[in-house]
Amino acid sequence: MIAKDKIKKYIIFCILISTNYIKAQESPEFEIGLELMDKYSCSLCHSLFDKRRLVGPSLKGIYKTNRKLTNNEVKVADENYLKDAIINRNRATVSGFQDNLHPKYTFTEEELKILVSTIKNL
Ligand code: HEC
Repeated sequence: MIAKDKIKKYIIFCILISTNYIKAQESPEFEIGLELMDKYSCSLCHSLFDKRRLVGPSLKGIYKTNRKLTNNEVKVADENYLKDAIINRNRATVSGFQDNLHPKYTFTEEELKILVSTIKNL
């Protein structure tokens, strides 16, 4: 019966999210993403809730914005871009920042999904 209750709660939650009754930042997934970011020290180098430049660029509001890279390419920060930025050490990096500082992470696909979804909602 507990499982049924959980499913019910989840469905209600999804409805509330889809009608914007609850903001994405109040979702459990967002919280888990912040915990992961805390665990892996992302916020030591990236500000999450304001636009301040730390060691790396701020991650607030970057979803779907243009990112200028060191190879002069401009890419839109969509989900694939964000995944790549988090795990791919060999990609062209963000212009104006040092290219060898973002750590080499290995995340599970699930963790990566959560991180990307959290960044989308910052
Ligand atoms: C030691 C500092 C450091 C840590 C810790 C770090 N990063 Fe980075 N990150 C950087 C720097 C510097 C850049 C810019 C150069 C580049 O693109 O690699 C960057 C770039 C990025 C970008 C691309 C941003 C843009 O403007 O397009 C994303 C997304 C990102 N990091 C996410 C993360 C996440 C998520 C974590 C934690 C799991 C993390 N970073 C941890 C230093 C860091």
